[in-house]
Amino acid sequence: MTTKMKQSKKMDDIPFSGIRKVFEAAGQLEKQGKDIINLGIGRPNFDTPQHIKEAAKKSLDEGHVFYTSNYGTETLRTAVANKLKRDNGLDYDMSDVIVTVGANQAVSIAMTAMLDPGDEVLVPNPSWLHYFYCADLVGAKTVSYPLLEENGFNVIPEDIEKLVTPKTKMVIVNSPNNPTGSILSKESLQAIADIAKKYDLVVLSDEIYEKLIYDDSVHYSIASLDGMKERTILIHGVSKSYSMTGWRIGFAISANKEFVSAMIRVLQYTVTCANSFAQDGAEAAINGPQDCVEDMRVQFDKRRKLVFDRINKIEGLSCICPKGAFYCFVNIKKLGMSDEEASNYYLNEAGVAMIPGSAFGEYGAGYLRVAFSNSYENIEKAMDRIADATAAYLARK
Ligand SMILES: Cc1ncc(COP(=O)(O)O)c(C=O)c1O
Repeated sequence: MTTKMKQSKKMDDIPFSGIRKVFEAAGQLEKQGKDIINLGIGRPNFDTPQHIKEAAKKSLDEGHVFYTSNYGTETLRTAVANKLKRDNGLDYDMSDVIVTVGANQAVSIAMTAMLDPGDEVLVPNPSWLHYFYCADLVGAKTVSYPLLEENGFNVIPEDIEKLVTPKTKMVIVNSPNNPTGSILSKESLQAIADIAKKYDLVVLSDEIYEKLIYDDSVHYSIASLDGMKERTILIHGVSKSYSMTGWRIGFAISANKEFVSAMIRVLQYTVTCANSFAQDGAEAAINGPQDCVEDMRVQFDKRRKLVFDRINKIEGLSCICPKGAFYCFVNIKKLGMSDEEASNYYLNEAGVAMIPGSAFGEYGAGYLRVAFSNSYENIEKAMDRIADATAAYLARK
């Protein structure tokens, strides 16, 4: 007998996140008393800077415990508009900014608001999982454009153009990129912008890692290019730059009033608004002193160099040096096992959690994502363990 007591058909194609799977497996081992070093989750290990916490405490003490406007508080939205001017040279109005429950919800409302079933979305592959599954949840089809190691994990704009069909509605750009750490050059962004204009595409530009860039790299926003503001939805947030992942504050920004109107209606019928006092904390983060961001970036840079240096000394493993974010995408193809097997092997044999690259799309197969958001000391220890476990594996082969 058939029953209606089951999930919707669309959920049959929505897997559990490959990141959470590793997180949970690592948690189980920890419960059994194993010492696990987590290089899996993309979560800065720093405490949120004190002045931000104080602002949220003050907000609570002042009674900011109610719903805010669906759009978020005017003061936070103004702070974001000012930040876009200050950091990115972009002219946005407070009314272009929607405060969301983390950047993830910004991605979700943007895709829900803009995509119909059957619409096609061009997504970098490998990339942040939400782009794939937020599209799936609304019945849109994702079409991957590859980020390949031989191209430094950079976008080849011609690859994007080849995939455009009459059904293509949106193209996603993410720079700095999770999981590869690559950064889009101004020329690449210009080429993508030209494609978007030629084929009348909406651009979703996820810039959450904009502050985490290294060496002489520069972050450019695609919205700053000629004719792009009206067709771009910017995704920003405080999680990564200010170590506020648990506060759940992000932003969807667009100068296109119709986009904002559609996105806010999705937000209204899902979460209503973001947390009131967390919004006040985020405002202090954006308006306050920015040296905390630089201090953390300097720490990440040291860890980046450590991972790059150590991984490339291990026979069987290699990686190119990430230019941004806090991930190294390590090539494990010489080991002769799949990335899922490698992730399991290092977790169980070395007590080091790393995410299989295929969790970020099929072009990630053969890689492990190493998040250098853990402490320098823990990363050093993890690199020793990875070196020993790799040598032991190769010796047995
Ligand atoms: C590219 C990218 N966008 C968005 C997010 C989510 O950020 P938030 O914590 O603000 O939801 C992440 C988190 O890892 C990410 O890597």
